[in-house]
Amino acid sequence: MIKGSFPIEKFRELQTPFYAYDKELLQKTLDAINAESKKYGYHVHYAVKANANPTILQMICSANLGADCVSGGEVRAAIKAGFPSDKIVFAGVGKADWEIELALDNDIFCFNVESEPELENINDLASQKNKIARVALRINPNVDAHTHSYITTGLNENKFGFSIESLPQVVVLLKKLSNVKLVGLHFHIGSQITDMSAFQDLCIKINELQDFLREKNIRCQHINVGGGLGINYQHPNHVPIADFDSYFKVFNDYLKKEKDQIVHFELGRSVVAPCGSLITKVLYVKKGTSKQFAIVDAGMTDLIRPALYQAYHHIENVTSCGLEEKYDIVGPICESSDTFAKDYTMNAAKRGDLLALRSAGAYGEIMASRYNLRELPKSYFF
Ligand code: LLP
Repeated sequence: MIKGSFPIEKFRELQTPFYAYDKELLQKTLDAINAESKKYGYHVHYAVKANANPTILQMICSANLGADCVSGGEVRAAIKAGFPSDKIVFAGVGKADWEIELALDNDIFCFNVESEPELENINDLASQKNKIARVALRINPNVDAHTHSYITTGLNENKFGFSIESLPQVVVLLKKLSNVKLVGLHFHIGSQITDMSAFQDLCIKINELQDFLREKNIRCQHINVGGGLGINYQHPNHVPIADFDSYFKVFNDYLKKEKDQIVHFELGRSVVAPCGSLITKVLYVKKGTSKQFAIVDAGMTDLIRPALYQAYHHIENVTSCGLEEKYDIVGPICESSDTFAKDYTMNAAKRGDLLALRSAGAYGEIMASRYNLRELPKSYFF
């Protein structure tokens, strides 16, 4: 989207705060993903957790991506949006029995399994249904993604996956379980990763692991390298599409595939973050003793990322072209952490101006809550 291309008149008629999604940008992003991934025959699943808005899911499904789900609710949403069950994977460190049963009933492509007791439980539930569950082992590769600690997942200290050291005993266990079939290996080292060397490190770890498994005569049909590709939050107008070209190329350059092995990806943020903005109205401009506050009607209940991860979102005053001034841009929630930005320079704000918090299409609407008994934000497409 190009700065100034928001339909301001239409926005003025709508009750704020709301999410505004740019369909054209989402489509361009999906086209870029398909063009770059097809070069290498890669399969891309969309991480539904980033945004499960039905219109977005349908567009992604129409672009032929698969779905990466982390709950029974997400499996249901993916099926409802039209994702074929053989393109649905189900991950997560704590899958409840009803969620596993739902996935078995729908014959999903694969469970990404994270522990030995989970493997045994899936085996039991599958045997009760006379089914063979396809599983991939989620391996914790102990690779540092150099991103925010809350969204780092691939270190030994994180709760996710099997450690590499535990693999010999997992291999023994797998041989005893007759209702699970090992079809893949799964990895995910973290999110908002912009330094491609982290993915290079991941490839090298995967190569070592494949050497070990080959020695044990174990072959997997697919390698799922997870998601994590970051976007440019600083410059949404100039860099609206993530660098899919470099991203897929790293895997092509460094990952040693076995013959006929298929590489899967599960991208969330890079697919949907750029296409969404949170539109909010300035309620009051308040002069504090040392600060000037722009108090807006959106809060951490609508977009929690700044409060939770100190995340940066580019903010534009889309209805004013006055001189620039500095503000703390804050919401109405009774918490000091309800702050979108501190000492932020933007066009002078007055009551009634509309602000756009950009790059909010991922982990925005989906993480909204009703804290303070607020309404959930609505969403519109333009
Ligand atoms: N696969 C697995 C196993 C994951 O845990 C995640 C994200 C993804 C794929 C998708 O990663 P992505 O391509 O979106 O980076 N709420 C946080 C992000 C949490 C990410 C959780 N896992 C945020 O707002 O930054």
